[in-house]
Amino acid sequence: MKINTMKLNKISIAILVSSSIAIFASCSAGGDNPGMEYAPNMYHSFAYEPLTQEADKPNTINANGMNMRLPAEHTIARGQLDFATYNLAKTAEGYEAASSLKNPAPASVYNLAEGKRLFNINCTPCHGEDGQGNGTIVADGKFPKVPSYAERLPTINDGKAFYSIKYGRNLMGAYGTVLTPSQIWQVIHYINTYKTSTAVAAVADTTVKK
Ligand code: HEC
Repeated sequence: MKINTMKLNKISIAILVSSSIAIFASCSAGGDNPGMEYAPNMYHSFAYEPLTQEADKPNTINANGMNMRLPAEHTIARGQLDFATYNLAKTAEGYEAASSLKNPAPASVYNLAEGKRLFNINCTPCHGEDGQGNGTIVADGKFPKVPSYAERLPTINDGKAFYSIKYGRNLMGAYGTVLTPSQIWQVIHYINTYKTSTAVAAVADTTVKK
């Protein structure tokens, strides 16, 4: 009985060793070579896949041999129109020119609630939940004074606020890569409620699409 178990153990060790050699051998094919493929049709689509380019299968229909095509000139990808529209120069003149921008979004219940949600996530550490500029990192002494919205916002306009949120301002970082232009406008609707403190409490927490 004991001998049998020993034998079995020896056999399983032999299997283990030989299969690991086989695994390592297939991994050491080197470079970009994935090694031998079993049933390649399982991996490689017969049709040209726009998001996959196989090195040895140039696309014979598209001029550049690529499955993915370059966008037609002067076209904007779906959902990216916002970014092209607000391509402001990142200069002092750009800041001034931004004054002409108007918030295109209505101050609807949904936009205000969404603005509040985004504000609470991104802006409260500095500006504080009450917009007074006493967020947690300011209160902890880790960040210098942040202006209160009630004081600052009346001195600028929505367009300048848009510019500052998109590109940042002095110690404040840029949010142009975090928030889409539409989201920035939603946040602006919300922070504008800090101009009159009673309005803030009126903003619903729920984001039910209108
Ligand atoms: C790291 C701290 C910090 C965070 C986070 C932050 N801000 Fe600010 N914010 C500041 C400071 C500091 C100023 C004053 C900048 C100055 O004028 O020197 C400021 C100024 C502003 C202004 C006035 C800009 C102007 O043109 O005068 C607006 C509007 C504003 N912040 C909105 C936001 C919004 C919206 C968010 C979140 C998306 C945000 N901030 C996140 C620190 C912050």
